[in-house]
Amino acid sequence: MLVRTIHDLRPAPHTRRVLVPTMGALHVGHQRLIERARELAGSADSGGEVVVSVFVNPSQFNEPSDFERYPRDLDRDVAMAMAAGASWVYAPAVDEVYPPGGRVEVGELPLVATQPGLEDSFRPGHFAGVVRVVRRLFELVEPASACFGEKDWQQLAVVRAMSEAEGLGVRIEPVATVREASGLAMSSRNRLLSAAGLAQASAIGRGLRSARGAATPGEAQQAMVEALAEVEIEAEYAAVRDAWTLMPVEEHRGPTAPVRGLVAAWVEGVRLIDNAEVCVGEGLPFHSNAE
Ligand code: PAF
Repeated sequence: MLVRTIHDLRPAPHTRRVLVPTMGALHVGHQRLIERARELAGSADSGGEVVVSVFVNPSQFNEPSDFERYPRDLDRDVAMAMAAGASWVYAPAVDEVYPPGGRVEVGELPLVATQPGLEDSFRPGHFAGVVRVVRRLFELVEPASACFGEKDWQQLAVVRAMSEAEGLGVRIEPVATVREASGLAMSSRNRLLSAAGLAQASAIGRGLRSARGAATPGEAQQAMVEALAEVEIEAEYAAVRDAWTLMPVEEHRGPTAPVRGLVAAWVEGVRLIDNAEVCVGEGLPFHSNAE
């Protein structure tokens, strides 16, 4: 059911409420998050509640044009969310999230949010916007847990670090990336691409797939860069980092600390991001990286 204000949400025992924060334009990847949220919350009959928030957060866009053209289709979002097991679709107005005259604190960003060469270098202020809205959504919805997709790995690491550092009491649940048959990670932005653009963009997933079998971080990075170069994709970064600190990794690293390949690239004027665990050896499933 669609609700537009927090007061329309039925008060619930918050131990049974799970939040899936989204900016709408839902796809199968979001439905996977909602299904996982339903598993965590338990059935509706037993009091479990899944709240899917749909809010295109202006404070996390660097470019006004990117914000304007972000796809929006609330009716379709409600249908997809309910089909996947949502109890509520909470689509607040900007004034409820950011009350005029009120202050929604950002506080100090966790170190993981500002690692050079990654999102923060190319989208300064983006994580401040994400942290601001996620903290505010937690305050409004009061969930016990919240599901975040691994597709936005850096966001997941930032939210996890924020939640731990601030003792927000919300369990952060990572959910594995869902991919098209071509290996392209599902994203709301994919619908802005032509068929040729989609084919070109699948090189991002291809590069990450071959980096999985790489013996060293250097080899993994080369595999990613080569895959992008083959189809003349302009990369902002193709980096190999420690999965949770996002710091650069040494070339010869023990097998215990997970290493992540992280890519941001432009295709037909659309900025795409993707990531996967790399240097894990051959033959392991590509899409299933959930902890
Ligand atoms: O991942 C997203 O869609 C957004 O960054 C989020 C977490 C909903 C915050 O606006």
